[in-house]
Amino acid sequence: MRILITGAAGFIGFHLSKELLEESHEIIGIDNLNDYYDPSLKESRLDILNKYKNFKFHKVDLKDKDAVDEIFKTYKPTHVINLAAQAGVRYSIENPYAYVDSNLIGFVNILEACRNYPVEHLLYASSSSVYGGNKVAPFSTNHNVDHPVSLYAATKKSNELMAHTYSHLYGIPTTGLRFFTVYGPYGRPDMAYFSFTKDILAGKAIKVFNHGKMERDFTYIDDIVEGIVKLIDKVPTANKEWDESKDDLSTSFAPYKIYNIGNNNPVQLMRFINALESALGIEAEKNYMEMQPGDVLRTYADVSDLEKDINFKPSTSIEEGLTKFVEWYKDYYEVK
Ligand SMILES: NC(=O)c1ccc[n+]([C@@H]2O[C@H](COP(=O)([O-])OP(=O)(O)OC[C@H]3O[C@@H](n4cnc5c(N)ncnc54)[C@H](O)[C@@H]3O)[C@@H](O)[C@H]2O)c1
Repeated sequence: MRILITGAAGFIGFHLSKELLEESHEIIGIDNLNDYYDPSLKESRLDILNKYKNFKFHKVDLKDKDAVDEIFKTYKPTHVINLAAQAGVRYSIENPYAYVDSNLIGFVNILEACRNYPVEHLLYASSSSVYGGNKVAPFSTNHNVDHPVSLYAATKKSNELMAHTYSHLYGIPTTGLRFFTVYGPYGRPDMAYFSFTKDILAGKAIKVFNHGKMERDFTYIDDIVEGIVKLIDKVPTANKEWDESKDDLSTSFAPYKIYNIGNNNPVQLMRFINALESALGIEAEKNYMEMQPGDVLRTYADVSDLEKDINFKPSTSIEEGLTKFVEWYKDYYEVK
């Protein structure tokens, strides 16, 4: 397979690229290396990927239609995995246009390129945040997701709608992946587990939002990668029996599919913090705060489709995953 991975210098893109390079696929990585968080971490990830002969990297912004087209024209990828996006719920309140540029305009450029240079399968990152204000849990891909509570979530839901349109009009098989709070080595500094670790090691108090009364379906990076790799060959086909009255929202009359990839095991924020404290061997000083706008109280993935279609379910416990994260963090930042 010749696979184009967008956002290859990002957290998930890096781990996914590395795994597929190990499996001897040809990987073309693109990323604009923006400074939403420390770009030196992106460079470090790329340094590792650049060691593989079967990896090629181009610094490209998804907003730049001509540059995206040129990549497709040059490499004619057989598969595309779109992970590049402006991520983060809270930042979408501060800088909404970054989300419009990367997640909407950028994604149209990917879809148009897949239309002009046909691919066997386009997979793209959606997010658990599309479940927005939903209360019924676990969150199923058959639940309605028309009530987002952040612009980030709205752009991810839009991606699913845009993908559906291209699956229908041009027969492009598309799979949307709703990831649930991903964590692990080489992770994202803007996410709580990362900033908590930094603050705890620096002896600073951590900010615990909604007084700790939140639950997240924390999912370890290796489980996310394994799920994506297994889904690459699971090319969606049109569901001829699709019937809108039957509550089947994750398939369609078009070659289109949506999956949740989450741990299916929500953890209270306080338990997560305790596990991090144990991994670090330090008790954190805590500043209890109010709920942040755009945040949701709970995420919880129903992964029955993953089990049915690829016989896979994430399984890493937070104790195990956080221990690996802390080992990496101390090694990377040379913490004694
Ligand atoms: N990490 C999570 O918990 C999580 C959860 C749900 C969904 N997601 C989604 O998964 C995908 C990957 O997330 P991540 O955690 O690896 O984030 P990340 O920020 O580490 O990776 C995204 C990468 O895309 C690049 N990028 C952003 N805008 C770009 C543009 N316009 N052109 C080219 N490159 C661009 C960034 O430089 C970055 O390296 C994103 O789409 C994100 O929204 C992540």
